[in-house]
Amino acid sequence: MHISRLKLKNWRNFKSGEIRDLPDSVYILGPNAAGKSNLLDAVRFLRDVSKHRGGGLQDAIDRRGGVGKIRCLHARNDTEILIEADIVDEGGSLAWSYELGFNIPPKGKRDPQVTRERVTSFGPDGTPTVVIDRPGKEEQRDELLLRETHIEQISANAKFRELADFFSGATYVHLVPQLLKFGDQIGGRVIEDDPFGQEFMLRIARTLPRTRESRLKRIETALRTIVPHLEDLRFLKDEITGHPHLEIRFKHHRPRGARQREDQFSDGTLRIMSILWLLQERGSSPLLLEEPELSLNEEIVAQLPRIMASVKGKSRGGRQFIITTHSQALLSNSGIDPRGIVIITPSDDGSSMRGVSADEQAALGAGLSPAEAVLPNARKTGQLDFLL
Ligand SMILES: Nc1ncnc2c1ncn2[C@@H]1O[C@H](COP(=O)(O)OP(=O)(O)OP(=O)(O)O)[C@@H](O)[C@H]1O
Ligand SMILES: [Mg+2]
Repeated sequence: MHISRLKLKNWRNFKSGEIRDLPDSVYILGPNAAGKSNLLDAVRFLRDVSKHRGGGLQDAIDRRGGVGKIRCLHARNDTEILIEADIVDEGGSLAWSYELGFNIPPKGKRDPQVTRERVTSFGPDGTPTVVIDRPGKEEQRDELLLRETHIEQISANAKFRELADFFSGATYVHLVPQLLKFGDQIGGRVIEDDPFGQEFMLRIARTLPRTRESRLKRIETALRTIVPHLEDLRFLKDEITGHPHLEIRFKHHRPRGARQREDQFSDGTLRIMSILWLLQERGSSPLLLEEPELSLNEEIVAQLPRIMASVKGKSRGGRQFIITTHSQALLSNSGIDPRGIVIITPSDDGSSMRGVSADEQAALGAGLSPAEAVLPNARKTGQLDFLL
């Protein structure tokens, strides 16, 4: 399954915006502070709401510092915050539609309340069935009920558990190799869901051996196209401490080759390995990736879409990935599905989002890459003026 449409109202710096027909690989472009991470955060929010353990609406709002931080500063009369998402199945047919609106009630207690929650399921022939449509009459009498969504409650989401699981399984990653390598020494606190990748080794250790081996094999094959002298990628446990490690053997002038553990891997190698691992993790929930190009060589970045597609293609299910990027090299790949390109443009009245325009589509059709046809339009001219 994957997200095919996302609509936002008063979400962070988007007063309103909608993107449609998204495929399973999505690239979000835009200048600094355009709202790329904010767009990912809308999906993270649905994840946080849908988690029945340590989640829920109130918690998801609190974690972001309250409704005042989330609501678009450009909002005027209509102050409701709204997220809508459509989900398609593996065959590309619309399966679910979810709408969640919330706000601070105008009077009484100032706790955030659900202003609407609607779940629609679609049959094989596309017939819609409204599964829930809130608030109902009773809820208007007992406002406490509106403090919670139904998607966060196991007792209330039985008819759309698939949707709740889909959202709650979303993974957000902004991997920081130094935290992964030196987390123990730094004594870094691992925050929930581990977005910075500190527990990457534990994730690998917790995977069943057979699955682990086959995933590592795929990573090894993909890595070899980038690091040609790599010979063997293995998981092992330190004999003394019991800590999990990855080990790479490199072809070397010495007969047995040179072995390295993850704290000796280059930052780029570690980043790409963790991306390729996450892409193979089970489930069909989206993988939200911040700037996968960081610490990678341009030539490798240019191959990333192909490498990611090849690793994903071989694993069952295959997760949708939604990537934020500034990289010319990443977008120089002409294999990128243009429907997956989202351009965010800032303005004085909040940012807007769009797919590729007819002109850009024509340029892509004529053989230009997204880096040539779209990226120049996604850059804010004069962004560096303050440096001059
Ligand atoms: N509620 C809000 N209303 C208006 N603007 C907001 C709100 N919350 C955050 N912002 C602003 O949104 C802007 C965009 O932030 P975001 O982190 O999404 O940018 P980005 O495109 O990911 O940038 P970068 O490429 O630097 O990572 C920030 O300048 C932030 O101040
Ligand atoms: Mg960002």
